[in-house]
Amino acid sequence: MAFDRNWLWVPALFFAGALLYSLYLAAMSVIDSYGARQGAALYQAHCTACHGNALEGQTGWQFGSFAAQGWRAPPLTAAGHAWMHDDKALFQHVKNGASGSPMPGFGEKLSDLTFPKWPAA
Ligand code: HEC
Repeated sequence: MAFDRNWLWVPALFFAGALLYSLYLAAMSVIDSYGARQGAALYQAHCTACHGNALEGQTGWQFGSFAAQGWRAPPLTAAGHAWMHDDKALFQHVKNGASGSPMPGFGEKLSDLTFPKWPAA
């Protein structure tokens, strides 16, 4: 069968698609790592004092997440119980704090620009 140039658009389209897709993936990974670094910096600045450098929480948190036991911050890893709450509840916890507990509300300090996904309320 003779080579027919009229069909070159097929592989050309395929390679153009593959190129665009890999550019898209590269852009997304840059954006993701930027977001993760920003989040880590915010955490370092505002949360480590109580929740620890490695999200480990305060010693004895299992026995002290209540006022009567002297409030200790729970870990924010799978070892704690943050994973039991949905995103909306977690956002609201960080935005409004927990009244009566040392967990402060960050709604004033961290603007809607920092957290564009603050839920209403
Ligand atoms: C002054 C100490 C303190 C600081 C600072 C602090 N927290 Fe907390 N945090 C607590 C305590 C104590 C609790 C447990 C009581 C409660 O549920 O509110 C808690 C609870 C939480 C919970 C709920 C965890 C769960 O398993 O239910 C989340 C999420 C959380 N904090 C996130 C943060 C984030 C994010 C920051 C920083 C922006 C932060 N905290 C800063 C003391 C603190």
